[in-house]
Amino acid sequence: MRIFSFTILSAILFTFFSPLSIAIDTISVTQSINENSTLVSEYGRFELGFFSPGSSTYRYVGIWYKDIPVKTVVWVANRQNPINDSSGTLMINRTGHVVLLGQKSTVVWSASPTESVQAPILQLLDTGNLVLRNEKDENSENYLWQSFDYPTDTLLPGMKLGWDLRTGLERRLVSWKSPDDPSPGDFAWGITLHSYPESETWKGSNKYFRDGPWNGIRFSGAPELQSNPLFNFKLVSNKNEVYYIFYLKNETAKSRMVVNQTNGYIRIRYAWNSGTQSWEVFASVPRDTCDTYGLCGAYGNCIIGESPVCQCLTGFKPKGNFIDWSQGCVRNKPFDCQDKHSSGFVKIRGLKLPDTTYTWANASVNLKECKARCLSNCSCTGYTNTNISGGGSGCAMWFGDLIDIREFQDGGQDLYVRIHASELGANSERKVKIVVVVLAVIFVVCGMILVAHYIRKIRATRGLEDNIETIARTTNQNNGAQTNNLEALFFDLDKIVEATSNFSSNNKLGEGGFGPVYKGTLEDGQEIAVKRFSKSSGQGQNEFKNEVILIAKLQHRNLVKLLGYCLQGEEKILIYEYMPNKSLDFFIFDQTKSELLDWSKRYHIICGIARGLLYLHQDSRLRIIHRDIKASNILLDNEMNPKISDFGMAKTFGGDESEGNTKRVVGTYGYMAPEYAIDGLFSMKSDVFSFGILLLEIISGKKNRGFYHLDHSQNLIGHAWRLWKEGRLMELINPCFKDTSNLSEVLRSIHIGLLCVQEHPEDRPSMSYVVVMLGSESTLPQPKQPGFSLDKTNVAANSSPKKSESSSTNEITVTLLEPR
Ligand SMILES: *[C@@H]1O[C@H](CO)[C@@H](O)[C@H](O)[C@H]1NC(C)=O
Ligand SMILES: *[C@@H]1O[C@H](CO)[C@@H](O)[C@H](O)[C@H]1NC(C)=O
Ligand SMILES: *[C@@H]1O[C@H](CO)[C@@H](O)[C@H](O)[C@H]1NC(C)=O
Ligand SMILES: *[C@@H]1O[C@H](CO)[C@@H](O)[C@H](O)[C@H]1NC(C)=O
Ligand SMILES: *[C@@H]1O[C@H](CO)[C@@H](O)[C@H](O)[C@H]1NC(C)=O
Ligand SMILES: *[C@@H]1O[C@H](CO)[C@@H](O)[C@H](O)[C@H]1NC(C)=O
Ligand SMILES: *[C@@H]1O[C@H](CO)[C@@H](O)[C@H](O)[C@H]1NC(C)=O
Ligand SMILES: *[C@@H]1O[C@H](CO)[C@@H](O)[C@H](O)[C@H]1NC(C)=O
Repeated sequence: MRIFSFTILSAILFTFFSPLSIAIDTISVTQSINENSTLVSEYGRFELGFFSPGSSTYRYVGIWYKDIPVKTVVWVANRQNPINDSSGTLMINRTGHVVLLGQKSTVVWSASPTESVQAPILQLLDTGNLVLRNEKDENSENYLWQSFDYPTDTLLPGMKLGWDLRTGLERRLVSWKSPDDPSPGDFAWGITLHSYPESETWKGSNKYFRDGPWNGIRFSGAPELQSNPLFNFKLVSNKNEVYYIFYLKNETAKSRMVVNQTNGYIRIRYAWNSGTQSWEVFASVPRDTCDTYGLCGAYGNCIIGESPVCQCLTGFKPKGNFIDWSQGCVRNKPFDCQDKHSSGFVKIRGLKLPDTTYTWANASVNLKECKARCLSNCSCTGYTNTNISGGGSGCAMWFGDLIDIREFQDGGQDLYVRIHASELGANSERKVKIVVVVLAVIFVVCGMILVAHYIRKIRATRGLEDNIETIARTTNQNNGAQTNNLEALFFDLDKIVEATSNFSSNNKLGEGGFGPVYKGTLEDGQEIAVKRFSKSSGQGQNEFKNEVILIAKLQHRNLVKLLGYCLQGEEKILIYEYMPNKSLDFFIFDQTKSELLDWSKRYHIICGIARGLLYLHQDSRLRIIHRDIKASNILLDNEMNPKISDFGMAKTFGGDESEGNTKRVVGTYGYMAPEYAIDGLFSMKSDVFSFGILLLEIISGKKNRGFYHLDHSQNLIGHAWRLWKEGRLMELINPCFKDTSNLSEVLRSIHIGLLCVQEHPEDRPSMSYVVVMLGSESTLPQPKQPGFSLDKTNVAANSSPKKSESSSTNEITVTLLEPR
């Protein structure tokens, strides 16, 4: 009786006072949620109620974070059946179904309990899970229904993605159609139940991107997430369930994974930054061209940094021409299956494993047995371990074509690919070669020992030992040990403090736009460059984020490699490989150092920068515009290979976009394209412009800004243009390499430089054309009038009147606000 009247009373209270209602997390059969009420989880982390997404006026029931200011919906009940007025009511009906009633009390959405119980209640948990349970089952996870089993586009910590094999339930994420419309869109992410299960993302019914199968510690196609500061994850696979799940390392953090089609990235992991009170992208796919499903076709291997990115596996050759890679590769020599000795396996390292649709896997078969089984089955094309930890165990065999393979610089896996035995001949040949080499080495070493012995007895043996140690170490590195390959990018502050002797001024290399750069040495002797963002620099925040997010994903031999980052308290630090030769400007603008760079070195540098830019513009999936190409951002390693650095200003573009407009013009005077400096319009062609300036600077040894000529007051471009028109290009060449034998190459490079700095972006060549022109001897088009080639006075009048005085320092990257 008391319970009854209490229920009545609370129902009355609920009805009358719900706008001011004390937050409740539970409703029972007699209660309901309407436009004027919500459910709030016990500790206030999540809220359930009615909402309208974006600019839509339709009403939906959803769950969102309660304790952050940015409304972030993580689940939607009636995603396909919106309610068009405020009549919606969510309740438990008398048979224990959760029903959402719309106009005229029609059922627009419902959820059925697995069994009927006397007194079911609907509760919103602090995990973001909406559960229907027996009132008495307070602490059990014996839910009659739960929203975690019916995800929309968001995966929360503790939520399972995948299969319950006992009930046949599949949980997969499906994107919203648009930010205004939560109904199911084109993209979906789930786990496929092949013999060797894998994680896949689809566009409609086509595969779009594979994370690949689980290899015991991570997905084969996502080595970079193996250890990260934010979350732990695993794939559970047993006879009852196959699912992916993640947990936060720190429960107070917030992170979610979303499948979103309106974004250049399809699957994004966000992390909540409580400092800036905003969501930040922590990781996302696809990362680059090579993530495109099956890009290189059968037996093709996608390698970022190679040109073309598609290469055939050992023992295979391109099937079609070199332009259309989708046809993939075919065997150099087919093998005869009946003859056991006609085929063998080549071990290919560092891969994302191929599509597992036609596979057979068994965790208790070892690699040797696996090989034997594969050999004895005609359709088996390859095999490998299913579990790479602890030295490797388990067996997976592939049948039919091997599709969607890519290579990773770090953290890939080995795959044993079946090829004709004579192709392995290369191997036995190699063995002979190895024997020969070893004998030669022994011979030479013996000779050396004898000679050395003559001079100094003891040191010779020591040297040999060292030698062997080095060889052993190198071999070890190549022999798998993938587990150690990719330590988290996250560095501990203590480690950095130690490496730089507490940011000692002796170790300071220079001062960048956002703070000092130090040299450091890690415990293992590796030299690093440490970029420490000044604490006061408010802008540094964005640049730091941008740089970490972008560059961690980029891999190319002409881009500087990020080794790690550190974000601790107020410290924002980036760690790069150390470049002993500093940057290009130290060489080309300095009279004495200039002598060190002959034309062939300069040409090597020019081509390297061009390839690096091409990669940014085209070969990485998201088009990237660097926006700050200049001599001081081109670093040089010990072999004088150029590496593009400083991605703080870079912009990414998804899909078909290729230009943007910004109110905040960033870049460096003297390198900025006119349309960008004046109108804030940036595109790949504005990078091409900067590249052209750089090219002219490398050849002339003069800075575009600060260029001074006795005869006339023009900048470097204007000067070059005048010399071009007067047929006196020779005068532009820096005297220190004027006597090169390859003058035609130099003149051709100036010509290309002039094509790059043409006034109208549409006249400038793309980077891919630049690379082609640099590498061939074809006739080049005539350049038109360059941009910013006018007299200095005119340039000033031409450009923005709001250009601020303080930003005119030559070498410092400037930021202009509102150029118009
Ligand atoms: C919600 O509250 C408003 C104002 O108090 C009232 O006019 C409206 O009828 C209420 N709606 C429902 C569905 O109770
Ligand atoms: C709302 O939906 C109902 C049922 O679908 C329909 O009859 C009604 O015309 C709609 N009202 C408006 C304003 O669109
Ligand atoms: C409760 O809702 C379900 C689903 O709409 C329906 O099948 C069932 O008949 C309803 N029960 C009652 C008592 O209305
Ligand atoms: C979790 O994060 C909070 C807030 O950032 C921090 O105060 C707390 O120390 C962290 N806890 C652990 C165990 O790291
Ligand atoms: C998807 O991406 C778009 C564009 O970034 C954003 O406006 C929208 O809120 C995202 N949707 C979800 C559900 O995160
Ligand atoms: C896996 O292999 C073991 C040993 O060969 C065998 O006992 C077991 O039945 C196999 N399991 C499956 C699922 O095939
Ligand atoms: C080879 O393996 C496939 C897939 O498991 C199987 O269907 C086929 O029967 C096997 N063939 C032989 C000859 O064992
Ligand atoms: C993989 O192998 C390691 C070490 O042998 C073992 O501890 C782990 O449980 C295995 N993982 C799976 C998923 O079988």
